Amino acid sequence: MTDKQTAKLALREHAANDAPADMRAAFAADPDRARTHSARLDDMLLDWSKCRVNGQTLDLLTGLAQACRLETRRDAMFAGEAINTTENRAVLHTALRNRSDAPVPVDGHDVMADVRAVLAAMADFCHGVRDGTLTGATGAAFTDVVNIGIGGSDLGPAMAVRALAPYHDGPRCHFVSNVDAADIADTLAGLDPARTLFVVASKTFTTIETMTNAATARAWLVDKLGEAAVGAHFCAVSTALDKVTEFGIGAERTFGFWDWVGGRYSLWGAIGLPIMMAVGPADFGRFLDGGHTMDIHFRSAPMRENLPVMAGLIGYWHRAICGYPSRAIIPYDERLARLPAYLQQLDMESNGKGVRLDGSPVAGVSGPIVWGEPGTNGQHAFFQLLHQGTDVVPVEFLVAANGHEPDLAHHHQLLLANCLAQSEALMKGRTLAEATEKLIARGMDEEEANALAPHKVFSGNRPSTTLVYDRLDPFTLGRIIALYEHRVFVEAQLFGINAFDQWGVELGKELATALLPVVETGEGAGERDGSTAALVAHVRALRKD
Ligand code: F6P
Repeated sequence: MTDKQTAKLALREHAANDAPADMRAAFAADPDRARTHSARLDDMLLDWSKCRVNGQTLDLLTGLAQACRLETRRDAMFAGEAINTTENRAVLHTALRNRSDAPVPVDGHDVMADVRAVLAAMADFCHGVRDGTLTGATGAAFTDVVNIGIGGSDLGPAMAVRALAPYHDGPRCHFVSNVDAADIADTLAGLDPARTLFVVASKTFTTIETMTNAATARAWLVDKLGEAAVGAHFCAVSTALDKVTEFGIGAERTFGFWDWVGGRYSLWGAIGLPIMMAVGPADFGRFLDGGHTMDIHFRSAPMRENLPVMAGLIGYWHRAICGYPSRAIIPYDERLARLPAYLQQLDMESNGKGVRLDGSPVAGVSGPIVWGEPGTNGQHAFFQLLHQGTDVVPVEFLVAANGHEPDLAHHHQLLLANCLAQSEALMKGRTLAEATEKLIARGMDEEEANALAPHKVFSGNRPSTTLVYDRLDPFTLGRIIALYEHRVFVEAQLFGINAFDQWGVELGKELATALLPVVETGEGAGERDGSTAALVAHVRALRKD
């Protein structure tokens, strides 16, 4: 057996035999548990004490991380080695937020000058738009920016722009991603073309949804302001600069990035243009500072004190050892409403793989299903299942100690109380005896209480982690996103997979391209499988164009 197999076997045996079975008992036996099962980076605290782990679990998990050469692999990533082996690429989104003087080599070339040049060009452009010196074709200042992109060219900026609402002092930002005409139609409906700037964001500049939406936006603008207005109202973000030129967007309005930045890791550079537009270059810089601070921590803190490492090890424990198929991300922070969607791409596109780095099949499992919604809303929707359903779903709570509305501080106290109460309830549960006693204490007769009590039992022992931070400012948002990026990396090393490719998105794209003429004309429907052919026929019978 290899070291990895031995370490995994030891973890499984530990889970079956001597991991804490009862969390109430674990807290009663160890009053110091919250301290020994948490890690801090300044104000940011990650608590995993409500998970069914103990010191031995952590020793075994860190032992597995060592057997998987986690630190060596981490250093290889930061050193610019081509760890994305199926695409033969370095993985250096961290260079986009490198705020130190240290060079970052890719194939022997320090990329930092290029990174800084793009950031400076973005800042110049944003200053011009924000202060009104850079105007639309009619001379009117821009009031609205529409980002047209999808996946990594949409989710990151959309999530961050919403998260940083208290810092907005620029134009309003809108996001169009879906090829469904409803998306662009509803967005354009309220906009003044003379005051609207479009950002076409696509790493490849070939993605059908983005190119279709960009063409529709262009036609809308031409219809209102004429062909000559296009240059003043469009800019682009891409690695495919030649394709941007073909589209008709000038080089001075094109912000580049590089193939060593994965789409879902790209909001730190040019893809972050809408974020910079909304909050300004200074706050965008603070966002980068936050990411860089988490990088330094990830590279230097010992495993047990390292937030991304511990988040990854606990995530792996839940997924691979305990066998829980999903994880819920529940920010008690309305402005992080898009964080679960953002993390779905980050995590599931990275770690939803069936083969290992060497091409052999994944023996057990790989990444979990990621989902979630902000609290407290989720409490009134799906928390019933989290507390009493037959599946155990580890929950990841996020909450700020302080909000941005000092005049409404009582809202924030309620928010905090709810967040903490939910993790407590998941952990503690309520026994049958407690449930019965409570009903009788309320005046119910014994027979009735005995009948109702089973419905009021909570098994408890349901794991959750909590990430607490001072306030959701640009710096902290940067730390949170970098934490999750590195956590995904840590889990990938334990699964033994490449977190940086995404071949699983290809087949659907190919089939959509092949099906377009079938949907348009009906020809070739008979060559599809029976279900698809029948669906095409039904759709075509209903269509009115
Ligand atoms: O659907 C997969 C994907 O390739 C993502 O990885 C990527 O973020 C998204 O499509 C958009 O790609 P692009 O930025 O090239 O338009």
